[in-house]
Amino acid sequence: MYGNDFAASGGELLDQVADAERELRAAADRSVRGGSDEETYFTELVAADQKIEPRDWMPDGYRKTLIRQIAQHAHSEIIGMQPEANWLTRAPTLKRKAILLAKVQDEAGHGLYLYAAAETLGVSRDTLYDLLLAGRQKYSSIFNYPTLSWADVGAIGWLVDGAAIVNQVPLCRCSYGPYARAMIRICKEESFHQRQGYEILYTLAHGTPGQKEMAQDAVDRWWYPSLAMFGPPDTDSTHSAQSMAWKIKRFSNDDLRQRFVDMCAQQATVLGLTIPDPDLRWNPDRGAYDYTAPDYAELMEVIRGNGPCNRARMANRRAAHEDGAWVREAAAAYAAKHAAPAAPTAEAVHA
Ligand SMILES: [Fe+2]
Ligand SMILES: [Fe+2]
Repeated sequence: MYGNDFAASGGELLDQVADAERELRAAADRSVRGGSDEETYFTELVAADQKIEPRDWMPDGYRKTLIRQIAQHAHSEIIGMQPEANWLTRAPTLKRKAILLAKVQDEAGHGLYLYAAAETLGVSRDTLYDLLLAGRQKYSSIFNYPTLSWADVGAIGWLVDGAAIVNQVPLCRCSYGPYARAMIRICKEESFHQRQGYEILYTLAHGTPGQKEMAQDAVDRWWYPSLAMFGPPDTDSTHSAQSMAWKIKRFSNDDLRQRFVDMCAQQATVLGLTIPDPDLRWNPDRGAYDYTAPDYAELMEVIRGNGPCNRARMANRRAAHEDGAWVREAAAAYAAKHAAPAAPTAEAVHA
């Protein structure tokens, strides 16, 4: 796709091909449009639902918005491994453990695709890590809640990965090419994550009364934090209007939240579990479910760093970063060794 999917030896060649194609496209466009400026060209590309690519001119604000959003997304994937990793050693069966391992590894992969996408905007992965560790970039507030029982793994898959899908499917059509392409791959894997969570909850909900109770308790605790994943209400959303004009964001926070509620309300019935909202009911006039909004004051508190697990998550992340220093050093030394000109072989010396 891009970034580290290219073999090192082929990368240069692909870059040259991309450069040549871009030159041709620019020349053709100049002749058609009579040399209008870069900003007009950018606006026209976005309006025509074409993709902006890394070497295209883009407004500073567009670049900054994308870096902030993609970095926050990448950090969320990496930090998001922690709540479920808590249950890797306690999964109830070998099969469940293998599935959960695969899922947690997928999340690490999502982080890597996204850091690679952010790097195409001219910021290094190291810089983004530093900003996260210094608390200057955020990750999704949902990962600051604890996983108290095995059913939480099911609730995370069903609700948290489910909310991620609703949020991220429109991003597959985002105006920035590398981000949009990364999202296509990520969304395919998120679908598997959501299914596995749903299946865990279905199994528990159709098991013993104790298991059903455990599943219901997990849904009770994860429902409102999952609704809050869509961000503040549209009336308070600071970045939304500009992001929608740039086609980074395609739907408003409240539209996406509604779509998620409508999806879950029906799935809960099949699960045999109750969504913890006494006011949840179908509204035929709106063609959608009415529901109780999450506690946005709680969301802001968690974003400010005062959720139940913020400090533990960041402490773990810092420790993992420090413990991994030797891996980064070894990888850099290995890359440097292979980049250096090869020493002459014995045959070449004696020829
Ligand atoms: Fe993910
Ligand atoms: Fe996921």
